[in-house]
Amino acid sequence: MLITGTRTGIGKSLAEYFLQRGNTVIGCSRRSSSIEHPGYRHFELDLTDSKQLKRMFRSIRQEFGHLDSVVNNAGTATMNHFMLTPEETTRNIFEINFFAVLACSREATKLLQKSDQASTSILNISTVAVPWSLDGQLVYSASKSAVEQATRVMSKELSAFGIRVNALGLPIVRTVLTRTLPEEARANALARQTIDRMCEFDDLVGPVEFLTSEQSGFVTGETIYLGGVR
Ligand SMILES: NC(=O)c1ccc[n+]([C@@H]2O[C@H](COP(=O)([O-])OP(=O)(O)OC[C@H]3O[C@@H](n4cnc5c(N)ncnc54)[C@H](OP(=O)(O)O)[C@@H]3O)[C@@H](O)[C@H]2O)c1
Repeated sequence: MLITGTRTGIGKSLAEYFLQRGNTVIGCSRRSSSIEHPGYRHFELDLTDSKQLKRMFRSIRQEFGHLDSVVNNAGTATMNHFMLTPEETTRNIFEINFFAVLACSREATKLLQKSDQASTSILNISTVAVPWSLDGQLVYSASKSAVEQATRVMSKELSAFGIRVNALGLPIVRTVLTRTLPEEARANALARQTIDRMCEFDDLVGPVEFLTSEQSGFVTGETIYLGGVR
């Protein structure tokens, strides 16, 4: 499986979990790998650079021949009033959160088609900031809204190739990304969840395993939000 953004946070924990379960995991990030495991292959690249991205997929094809599942996890966030958000920041966030997800999915599709599994999968990591439409998160939530829409449309366009496409909308999880989140914002977010506690890695790994495995062979085009947010 390929998981993007595996140097820190959720991507790293997912890679370590699936390695422990005996999977071969391919990961990537701009900086060097923080995982050492015989079943792990790391690519150091910026996913927003389409040449580098294509080069990574060429190497994956040469080294592994196919993919069984892909988790589009690499992403970034910002909290700012939209009036105070520079255009460059907006474009940069869309580059990694949306355009890189499209590009990865496009390249990955060619390798998922070469899998001998009856059903393969793309899982896009999204956020509860989409259904909550939180103020201060316009650019971030808009980029993930685009990912959720891509999930629905892609699920239809890739169905003929036996590829399922789903998204997982996460609440706040403690990582580098949310380290500096003000306490008030954290408390407000928690108050909106049905399950009144922080989401831990153990809470999200089950849904990820389900959506990336053939156990979810009849599930596609869905976005599942964790913590009870609707
Ligand atoms: N943490 C949360 O509370 C939360 C909540 C909802 C959704 N999410 C989503 O979950 C995903 C992971 O978040 P996280 O909290 O684990 O963040 P994180 O700790 O900041 O991890 C992001 C990972 O992506 C890599 N990355 C970032 N930009 C990249 C680029 N241009 N090219 C290649 N790799 C890149 C980073 O490595 P390098 O810096 O070395 O590139 C890092 O490994 C994101 O999509 C985020 O939106 C997180």
